[in-house]
Amino acid sequence: MLELRGVSHRYGNVLAVDQVSLTVASGEFFTLLGPSGCGKTTLLRLIAGFEQPSEGRILLDGKDLAGVPPERRPVHTVFQSYALFPHLTVAENIAFPLRMARLPAARSKERVREQLAAVRLEGLAERYPAALSGGQRQRVALARALANRPRILLLDEPLAALDLKLREQLQLELIRLQRSLGITFIYVTHDQGEALALSHRVGVMCGGRLVQVDRPAELYARPRNRFVANFIGRCNLLEARVSGRVNGHLVLGIPGLPPVSVPAEGNLEVGELGVLALRPEHIRLQPARAGEQELSGLIQGHLFLGATSLYQVELVNGMRLDVQVAGGHGEVVLEPGTPVRLSWPLQAGRFLRE
Ligand SMILES: Nc1ncnc2c1ncn2[C@@H]1O[C@H](COP(=O)(O)OP(=O)(O)OP(=O)(O)O)[C@@H](O)[C@H]1O
Ligand SMILES: [Mg+2]
Repeated sequence: MLELRGVSHRYGNVLAVDQVSLTVASGEFFTLLGPSGCGKTTLLRLIAGFEQPSEGRILLDGKDLAGVPPERRPVHTVFQSYALFPHLTVAENIAFPLRMARLPAARSKERVREQLAAVRLEGLAERYPAALSGGQRQRVALARALANRPRILLLDEPLAALDLKLREQLQLELIRLQRSLGITFIYVTHDQGEALALSHRVGVMCGGRLVQVDRPAELYARPRNRFVANFIGRCNLLEARVSGRVNGHLVLGIPGLPPVSVPAEGNLEVGELGVLALRPEHIRLQPARAGEQELSGLIQGHLFLGATSLYQVELVNGMRLDVQVAGGHGEVVLEPGTPVRLSWPLQAGRFLRE
C-alpha cells in the first residue's frame, strides 16, 4: 500500500535518511525503531509531506505522492507533545478535523461520541486540555487524529512523555484501536520493548539507513548484525573468527577459549572475522550435557531483576558474559568467585560478521 523506493533526505549536508526502501501493507502496525538522531522523525515527515525527498519516491497505492501537499494526503500525525488546541474542549478538539472536512454537524457529533468511546474518555467531552492528565491528553490527540479515518496514522513517540504504567496501558489501547479500526499505523520509537510489543513488523534504523525489517520474534531471534543484536534486548558479543565447518555447523575460534560451534548461515568463509552473539537467557549455569556448547568461568557478580537474575561471568580468557536465569528471589545465589560451567544449545549461538 505505502511504498518507499530509495528515499534519501538531506538537511544541508546532513544526510538524515539514506536510501530507504520499504513497503508497508494496508492494516499493518509498522514501527520504525532506532536511537536518537537516526532519521525516524525525518522519515515520518517525508511520508506526511512536510518534507520532500532529496532522492527516491514515495508511492501510495502505486501513485507517486510527489507534489501532493500534506493536507491532501490521507495521512495524520500524532506527535510526542500533545498539540491540542487549548481554547477548545475535548469534544471540539476531536471535531476540529471533521469541521475542516465539512462533515454535517449531526454526523460530526455522532463521530465525536464514537471517538470518545474508542479512547475511553466518555464523560470528559466538555473539559479543556489544561484540566486533563498527560495520558488523557494523548488519548484526545489520538481520537482527533483518527476522527476522519485516515488511511495511515503516523505516530512519533506518542507515549514518550508518560510514566511506565500509563505507557503500558496506552500500548494495550493502541493495539486494540489499531486492530479494530484496521488503519495502517506507522509508529516511531527508540524503545525496543515498545516496538516488539506493539508491532506486526519493525524496521530498525541506524544512521539514516534501514538495517533490518522483520517481525518482532524474527528480529529478536535472528538479528542481522551487531547493531541490531545489541539494540534489541540484551546480547553477549564475543569477537570471533570462523575457523572451519563441521557437520554443517560453523566452528568459531575465540582467543583463549575452546572452539565454539554455531549454526551455519549464509555464505561465510573460513577466516572471516565477526562476533559470536549469544542471548543471556540461553546460557545455563549448570553442568553441561553431552553434545552441548560449554565454557567455564568464574562468577563476578549478580543482579536481581525481579522475575529473573543476571549473572556476570568471567571466562578463562578474561572475556565477560551476561547470563540470565529464571527466578532469582529465593534461589541459591552464586557468590562472586564461584567456578561455573556455562552451556547453551548450539542453535542459540549466532555468528555475525557486521
Ligand atoms: N531541520 C533540520 N535541519 C538540519 N538537520 C536536521 C533537521 N532536522 C533533523 N536534522 C538532523 O537529521 C538527523 C535525523 O534527525 P531526526 O529528527 O529524523 O532523528 P530521530 O531519529 O527522529 O531522533 P530522535 O529519536 O531524537 O527524535 C539528525 O542528525 C538531526 O540532527
Ligand atoms: Mg524524532
